Amino acid sequence: MSRVLIIDDNEGVCSALGMLLDVHGIETCSANDPKAGLNRLAKGNIDLVIQDMNFTADTTSGEEGVELYYRLRKIDPDLPIILLTAWTHLETAVELVREGASDYLAKPWDDVKLITTVHNLLELREATQLAKENDSERRTQQNKLAQSYDLCGLVYASRAMHELVSVATRIARSEVPVLITGANGAGKEKLAHIVQANSACADGPFITVNAGALPQDLIESELFGAEAGAYTGAGNARTGRFEAADGGTLFLDEIGNLPLEGQAKLLRVLQSGEFERLGSSKTRRVNVRIVSATNSDLEEAVARGEFREDLLYRLNLIELNVPPLAERPVDILPLAQHFLADKRTLSAAAENALRSYPWPGNVRELQNCLKRAALLTTDPIIDVADLALKLETKSTPSVDIDEETINEALGRNGGMVARAARELGLSRQALYRRMDKFGIPK
Ligand SMILES: Nc1ncnc2c1ncn2[C@@H]1O[C@H](COP(=O)(O)OP(=O)(O)OP(=O)(O)O)[C@@H](O)[C@H]1O
Ligand SMILES: [Mg+2]
Repeated sequence: MSRVLIIDDNEGVCSALGMLLDVHGIETCSANDPKAGLNRLAKGNIDLVIQDMNFTADTTSGEEGVELYYRLRKIDPDLPIILLTAWTHLETAVELVREGASDYLAKPWDDVKLITTVHNLLELREATQLAKENDSERRTQQNKLAQSYDLCGLVYASRAMHELVSVATRIARSEVPVLITGANGAGKEKLAHIVQANSACADGPFITVNAGALPQDLIESELFGAEAGAYTGAGNARTGRFEAADGGTLFLDEIGNLPLEGQAKLLRVLQSGEFERLGSSKTRRVNVRIVSATNSDLEEAVARGEFREDLLYRLNLIELNVPPLAERPVDILPLAQHFLADKRTLSAAAENALRSYPWPGNVRELQNCLKRAALLTTDPIIDVADLALKLETKSTPSVDIDEETINEALGRNGGMVARAARELGLSRQALYRRMDKFGIPK
């Protein structure tokens, strides 16, 4: 049950408001001066305050109201506060709304408008409280995960990454191959390390082969090794990466670039653990966990005849998809702070800019951006200009903001739409539209 605290020196106002709210099923309590109001709030169990702006009979400046407002705010930074003010003093009230008060109503108030405002604010209060609880619930789960597994320093706050890492750590101990998909710089290799670190072969080697960086005719000898003279330029026998990875993990990066011949051999190792070095007929056996990664669509490559379908089905028994950074904007600031790695902070404007930038290069681009900014400025506070972002996306974010981000911004700002909108770099109307879209109560 929600409870509204009315703070007004006029007993008549308190009882009139009390009755009006009571008729609409809202419990109230009242206080006749600021001190009593503050005491009542400190006791707890208050979801909204309606406060007067003047408390001494002969004052009309509104200063008392302003002071009360800030003191209430201090006790509960998220509390919705409605200001009741004489219409001749609207300016002070508007000023406070800019500072974060929820709304103001001119005396004499309009009953319907007052009830609507109170209802909306209480609903939002409930929703943001719930979002906060979910938030802390998720943090608890995240802590648990970090205690039970080695997350290799992975930084995240989003639900999407939490789910992904939960699955990754859960399947890590099995021996099945894992295929990690995702855009450039999203964190595929990082996730591969997490799989290895929590696998039965955690103490074994972690060997990387980047099929995208090797000339196609060298990939096979790189993977399987070659006897001396097996191909032009092969002076000495060489050990392949499969042998090097024995007892550990072989990370096949850019697997889509493996030529068909290499794919056939890879399929055979996956089926039997057996292979031969180039130029040799001696069969070798290894015990290697395969983790592969790609940023291309392997199904499409199969359709084009460039990738073996049977190999794909072997590799993607478990597929882990790392979402692009733009789809998990709540990760941006924690990652940014992590990459700053020192006592420097970001200005509010810089934070907004980072949050609304689309990050086509994902986490790696964010990392580069902050490292560059940290080198270029010696200021303790990093500002927008230091970030040198290519696009000014503040007024028209090209990433559409998701429900989670909106709920969190509302939560951080005590349900105050104007403030949350400012933080998200949106107009108030634009935020309302998005709240409508997601069915977030106003
Ligand atoms: N959640 C994260 N927390 C901390 N560091 C991260 C995170 N995600 C990525 N990184 C870091 O960002 C950089 C890029 O990540 P990574 O190399 O794993 O991406 P990738 O998907 O393999 O990229 P590419 O497609 O270019 O190969 C690395 O330095 C990595 O350590
Ligand atoms: Mg990579």
